[in-house]
This record gives sequence, structure tokens and C-alpha cells, in this order.
Amino acid sequence: MGVEVHDSTSTEAEAAFAGVATIDSVRVVHDHADRIFTWNYDRERPQLEALYNKGAASQWNSVTDLDWSTDVDPARVSAEEPPLIMLARRAATIPGSPLRNWGEREFTQLRIESLKAQLSQFMHGEQGAMMTAAKLVETVPWIDAKYYAATQTMDEARHTEVFARYLHQKVGDAYPMSPFLQGQIFGLLEDSRWDIAYLGMQIIIESLALAAFGDLLRRTSEPLLTKLLRYVMADEARHVAFGIVSLSELYRSLSSAELKERQEFLVDNTMRNRLRSTTPEVWERMGVTVEEVVPVLHQAAGEMGQGVFMAFQRAFFSKLVPNVRKLGLLDANDGYLRKQWQEAGLLEFEHADDTSADFESYDAVAADRAAAN
Ligand SMILES: [Fe+2]
Ligand SMILES: [Fe+2]
Repeated sequence: MGVEVHDSTSTEAEAAFAGVATIDSVRVVHDHADRIFTWNYDRERPQLEALYNKGAASQWNSVTDLDWSTDVDPARVSAEEPPLIMLARRAATIPGSPLRNWGEREFTQLRIESLKAQLSQFMHGEQGAMMTAAKLVETVPWIDAKYYAATQTMDEARHTEVFARYLHQKVGDAYPMSPFLQGQIFGLLEDSRWDIAYLGMQIIIESLALAAFGDLLRRTSEPLLTKLLRYVMADEARHVAFGIVSLSELYRSLSSAELKERQEFLVDNTMRNRLRSTTPEVWERMGVTVEEVVPVLHQAAGEMGQGVFMAFQRAFFSKLVPNVRKLGLLDANDGYLRKQWQEAGLLEFEHADDTSADFESYDAVAADRAAAN
């Protein structure tokens, strides 16, 4: 029996995706990995067992732990102006700029649209994380890792749910999943090698998510979003630790050629120009085409020096690089990855704390519970 794909005209599909008006069809992704059933139920991996127990004890409830009656003004979610808006203000001063006639009303609207776009990518990314964690349950050969991935699947379900609820109840309608994020996540879901799902999700995308959530958390003083992000980050740090513990074990047994494939995967997925934050539809909704606005945004970024998105990039690599070092991937094959990242200036973070050590410090859930007792 084939899989039925709803199209945008189907009222059934509209009902199924009620509240996610811009997502009007499902997407079929073919997984090429084998499912592995194991008969070995022995608890042989104490670090994974400890993480599983921690994951089970740190579950939180989106309905009772968050106060959804909080009033939110989407234009004032961040106290300080986000980098994109600062960039747009500068771009508006460039002669011939498509933003030259913009006033406060437009900048405020851009702020709301870019918040919607950002929360939308978080929501779609969390669904991708839920599906990747579920894939790990099915494909990883170790029982302790299957158990852990099952708790992560629940965590990611809650994350998807809270971002979707925050977006739809407090901010506005969703944007589609960006092609960049689709490319990354669908690639992981399709890959035949189970460790690539780990490497791409637990190590790259979750390090990226920790940086992005941390960046928004630093800028917001809105109480509901603050608590939501603290709780989500507590879970994410544990997920990254799960990836590090599992992959360090596996990568000790791989050949140089196999490790080279993983190193190349990291180069491909961290150094390509991502421009994540430019969701094209944001500009279209503002009545400007991407073709006209991108050149003035680049010019504005050049004038403002040292990249406006630098703080975010630094936060990402300060998580990623130590985590990858811990996996042994920096130095395998005569330091192939070390050389690539050195040339890109990314090695200054080599000895920052890796997330397998610092996830306890993220545990906002445990901290709040201790304070309440
Ligand atoms: Fe998540
Ligand atoms: Fe996660």
C-alpha cells in the first residue's frame, strides 16, 4: 500500500495540520538504515545507564510546569534588538536600498516576522530531532542506547509541542521549514549508517540548538519563553552528552577510512555557508524580494565589521569543537579535521568544556525543584 500524500487543497490535510497553516502537506522520507533487534539485555554501559536514569528523573510537563496564561507582546520578547534588525537598520541607510523608506512600524514588523521564523525553525528542528531519536531507538545495537534514545524521543516530542504552542498562541503563524534545515535533517533520516544520525543530530544540530537557544535566552526577559528555553536546554545538554558517550565508544573501533568519512561529514556540515537566519519568506512578507535585499544586507554587515552574527557563531563552535575533540575526530588521519578547522580559525575553542562534562550545570529542572522544596 502506498503512502498517501495530502496536497494543499485537501480539507482533511488542513484539519490534520490545524494551526500550522503554512505547512499544507506531509513529506515522505525514505530511511536506508536497518532496524536492529537485540537479545542482549545486560546493562553493559554504566554512563548510558546513568544518563537514562537522569533523563527519566528530569522529565517535565509542558502543561503544569509552564504558565501558559502569561501575556506576551511578540514585538518585545527580546529586550535588546536582535542582530538581524540592527543589520536591517543599517541596510536602510544605503543609497538605493529597498528598505530606505522604512520607519519604526516596518522594523517592528520585521522583528515579529523574524521571531516567528526563528521559532518555526526551532519547531521543525525539534520534530526532526524527535524522528532522529526514534530512528536511533530502532537502529542502534546497544540496549542502553535504545533506552536512552527512547527518553530523548519523549523529550523532543515535548520540545516540538512547546515551541508549536508558544508560536501559535503567543506569536503568530508558522513559516515553512527552511531548505537548509530540511537538507540537514532529511539527510540524517535517510542515511544507512546509524552513527551518522548521532553525529549529525546529537553533535552538530544539538550544539547549534544549544547556541541558538542560549542566544535567545540571553536576549529575552519574557518569563514564559525564559522558562521554556531553560527547560529545553537542560534536556538538550543531556542529548549531546548521549552522543559523545556513544560515539566515543564506537569511533575507537572504526578504521582510518571510516573515520575519514566522519571527518569529511563534519567539514561538509559545519563549514558551508549556511546563512540560516535569512528565511526568504520573511522578506517576501515584508514586501521585499530576497534578490534586492541580500546585497544591501551584505554591504551593511561589511560596514558593521566583524560579523553581526559573530556571538552566535562563537557560541556554536565553542560547543562543537571540544565535543568533536572528545570523539577523537580532530586528530584521526594525521589531524585531517584539525587542519581544516585550524585554517578556518575554529580551534581556539578546542579546550573549552565539552558537553559530556557540563550537562549537569544546565539542569534547570532539578534546580527549580530543589528551590521549591
Ligand atoms: Fe530538542
Ligand atoms: Fe535534543
